[in-house]
Amino acid sequence: MKKEIDGETYEVPRHVAVILDGNGRWAKKRLMPRNFGHKAGAKAVEQACEDVWNLGIEYFTVYAFSTENWKRSVEEVTGIMNLLRDYLVDSIERSCRNNMKVHIIGDRTRLAPDINDAIDKLEDATKDNTGLKFTIALNYGGRDEIKRAVQAIAGEVKSGTVDIEDITEDMISSHLDTRDLPDPDLLIRTSGEIRTSNFLPWQLAYSEFYFTDVLWPDMKREDFIDAIRYYNGRERRFGGVK
Ligand code: FPP
Repeated sequence: MKKEIDGETYEVPRHVAVILDGNGRWAKKRLMPRNFGHKAGAKAVEQACEDVWNLGIEYFTVYAFSTENWKRSVEEVTGIMNLLRDYLVDSIERSCRNNMKVHIIGDRTRLAPDINDAIDKLEDATKDNTGLKFTIALNYGGRDEIKRAVQAIAGEVKSGTVDIEDITEDMISSHLDTRDLPDPDLLIRTSGEIRTSNFLPWQLAYSEFYFTDVLWPDMKREDFIDAIRYYNGRERRFGGVK
């Protein structure tokens, strides 16, 4: 979609995915514990949802907790889970006020029962909202997501409802957690790391990648505009020639 932002016209990516990184370093710079950084990171997510919607982005997906993040200290994991718990509960009122539709992807079986309840309530309360489609990846790993999809498809083949010839790329996409989302047009990773860390490996096949040194809690509207400007400088060919 073309949109005028601060006097300039841009092609705005429809779906932006973000690897939120740098909360720990943000806290360290302030001589504060890591969970202080995560709290600031959660606040930054709230603001980002409003900013990206106002910039014309329709789908916004964030990597909040990976299947590998359980390896962090008990103190940190407990802190993040408590933060997410509060976030999910507080989100109902705010998401409805902002007309946001919230969806969680990832393997929910390892999340605490009350977090699962909070997710159900939030998804249900926001399911008819027509504004930003906001997706949070929680206990998400791309390889784990593909493994779960393969298990589901293998089950369908085994039971005879699907023939091996019916397995197409679209069919695989429709078994992923992101089945209701278009593939991201743009991936942003904050805090200077240049890797994708098992985030949406199938879905990012043709996405543009933007890496910035900004630490996630410092990420502002202007930084998203920088990412959109970068995106506008890229020519997307999807493997073809133009
Ligand atoms: C990345 O910074 C942060 C995480 C992996 C933790 C979880 C993210 C949040 C709590 C943000 C909140 C999200 C929502 C949806 C409420 P890091 O700890 O890897 O930072 P570092 O690389 O500087 O140590």
